[in-house]
Amino acid sequence: MADHGTVAAIAIGILFPVLFSALFLGKKRRKVRGVPVDVGGEAGYAIRNARKPELAEVPWEGATTMAHLFEQSCKKYTHNRFLGTRKQIGKELVTASDGRKFEKVHLGDYEWETYEEVFTRVSNFASGLIKLGHNIDRHVAIFSDTRAEWLISLQGCFRQNITVVTIYASLGEDALIHSLNETQVSTLICDSKQLRKLDSIKSRLTSVQNIIYFEDDDVEENAFRGSLSDWTIASFSEVQKLGKENPVEPSLPSKNGIAVVMYTSGSTGLPKGVMITHGNIVATTAAVMTVIPNMGSKDVYLAYLPLAHVFEMAAESVMLAAGVAIGYGSPLTLTDTSSKIKKGTKGDATVLKPTLLTAVPAILDRIRDGVLKKIEEKGGIVKNIFQIAYKRRLAAVEGSWLGAWGLEKWVWDAIVFKNVRTLLGGHIRFMLCGGAPLSGDSQRFINICIGSPIGQGYGLTETFAGAAFSEADDYSVGRVGPPPPCSYLKLVSWEEGGYRTSDKPLPRGEVVVGGFSVTAGYFKNEEKTNEVYKVDERGMRWFYTGDIGQFHPDGCLEIVDRKKDIVKLQHGEYISLGKVEAALSSCDYVDSVMVHADPFHSYCVALVVASRHSLEKWAQEAGIEYKDFSELCNKPEAVTEVLQSIFKVAKAGKLQKTEIPAKIKLLPDPWTPESGLVTAALKIKREQLKARFKDDLHKLYA
Ligand SMILES: *[C@@H]1O[C@H](CO)[C@@H](O)[C@H](O)[C@H]1NC(C)=O
Ligand SMILES: *[C@@H]1O[C@H](CO)[C@@H](O)[C@H](O)[C@H]1NC(C)=O
Repeated sequence: MADHGTVAAIAIGILFPVLFSALFLGKKRRKVRGVPVDVGGEAGYAIRNARKPELAEVPWEGATTMAHLFEQSCKKYTHNRFLGTRKQIGKELVTASDGRKFEKVHLGDYEWETYEEVFTRVSNFASGLIKLGHNIDRHVAIFSDTRAEWLISLQGCFRQNITVVTIYASLGEDALIHSLNETQVSTLICDSKQLRKLDSIKSRLTSVQNIIYFEDDDVEENAFRGSLSDWTIASFSEVQKLGKENPVEPSLPSKNGIAVVMYTSGSTGLPKGVMITHGNIVATTAAVMTVIPNMGSKDVYLAYLPLAHVFEMAAESVMLAAGVAIGYGSPLTLTDTSSKIKKGTKGDATVLKPTLLTAVPAILDRIRDGVLKKIEEKGGIVKNIFQIAYKRRLAAVEGSWLGAWGLEKWVWDAIVFKNVRTLLGGHIRFMLCGGAPLSGDSQRFINICIGSPIGQGYGLTETFAGAAFSEADDYSVGRVGPPPPCSYLKLVSWEEGGYRTSDKPLPRGEVVVGGFSVTAGYFKNEEKTNEVYKVDERGMRWFYTGDIGQFHPDGCLEIVDRKKDIVKLQHGEYISLGKVEAALSSCDYVDSVMVHADPFHSYCVALVVASRHSLEKWAQEAGIEYKDFSELCNKPEAVTEVLQSIFKVAKAGKLQKTEIPAKIKLLPDPWTPESGLVTAALKIKREQLKARFKDDLHKLYA
């Protein structure tokens, strides 16, 4: 990593910023990104995107549905590259030292189809579907990993005004059966992996009549045809061929028609189907296109997140509207060192060299950990230089804007960060991150090491992703940006929880989203729909997210809490678990914390993962003897010490008396994503923690 020029670089790196920061100190100014707006419905504090007074509904005139948009895009970008797929060159099973077998693949270059070619395939598929006997009044479901045929199937259905049902593969068998039955799906489109699962559940898929499967190298076609013989079964290319020979006139949908019923996990019980209209998709598409600077045919997008998830579906809609080339990959083949890539062969990013990438925090955390581990292994001068470079860049990114783009950046990029960048192909210019909050550390790491801005999206399936989007030139962390131009954000006071729009210094309240991206509600569930969706006197639809947020002066939203994490205690006081945890985590003894409260008690308690370093230091100074850390955590003196420290921090954080845990349990072992107790983004999972430490919690209330 370090080579000649290192010494010069360090000299430049230290000299220039000192001069520049002296010159530009105090020049930092926040651009206004969201401004107050007058809206209808429940009283609150509403913000619109600062760049546009009117809400954007379509990306351009006439693109009122995804079917219209797609056709117009294909006409506009005719001979440009559109969908790219890597051909499998080889496959092998590798046995690890513990006896487990892993599949490794060797994949070749991307093979591309143009917008015009894809349009032909979509038209043929749409015709073939009808010819195969699919009744257009019934739903089609797509159940597959992300790939070109997924998008082609989706657009094929849209061309015949057919609603598509999507199901997240990780939701499990019962969820799949429930979703297909609830929507009475008659044609199921799947890949070979999912096809193999169908045999054991076919007696429970009562509405299904046709199966269309994507061919790949793994399909043992004849075997399927035998075992699933009650159904009409056809391969994807057979359906296309059928359509080519028997063209059917398209029947394009209308703006308010349901394009997709997208199943998402409910926090309890069975998944809910969110009804997404064509109008929702084109509105979010129009809005996000304005967030990514200068997007167009020169861009290449690496698609690998599940298309059954709103975030990826929105992203690919944006790409096709802008004429971007979409290359397909998978999370397991993303980089040269990804788990499914055969040693010595190349990952998707290296071959594709994408300019645009979407990611979820878990993936960015993984990339960051991988890089840091490598640097740690190299040690010595490499590690030292990396640390100097990182620190300098961090100071620059967080400080003056000039430092962020100056000569020093160029130097560090050339000698240190170039190697990190090649991990993702070396050409990333913009990253979209969504799905969960991204930690400030990971965001900074990407800003600095990958050198690209991150647009952080906040949105739910119910708002077709488009609720808030941070902008390319916003380098702050922990915030999700202003609303995109397709929607408004409103904070509504929540008195019981103690969050009010009159709060100082920042207005706070439940986040409510209004506008064109707000979906039509839950499929066959009017009660739940009426609970969280409202239409105001001006005809605008609003969705109540259940998240608590606050607006910064520049109009950007920060999510601070979740409504359901608020508990009413025995005497009627409300306690916001997230708020208390945030306050307590600044205590030196606390590594992780979960606060617990219930209505049957007048006080709350907490599970605390003790910081080993701080607690052992204290024990040494206090002369406490102990065998191992676990024993130390059980000592009453240790518990008292931490409790006192927590009390001080809580007082400083202005917590009410009832909000301060009266009793705590100290735990020696950190909560890791592998243990299932925290998410990949290290957010605590309350239900899992409650179950794991049931007995400890019970004792705390005794
Ligand atoms: C399918 O849905 C119907 C109601 O629409 C219900 O009566 C039936 O039990 C469901 N079947 C399965 C397998 O879930
Ligand atoms: C599309 O299908 C829906 C429901 O099946 C129907 O109500 C609507 O009229 C159709 N739209 C058009 C433009 O044919």
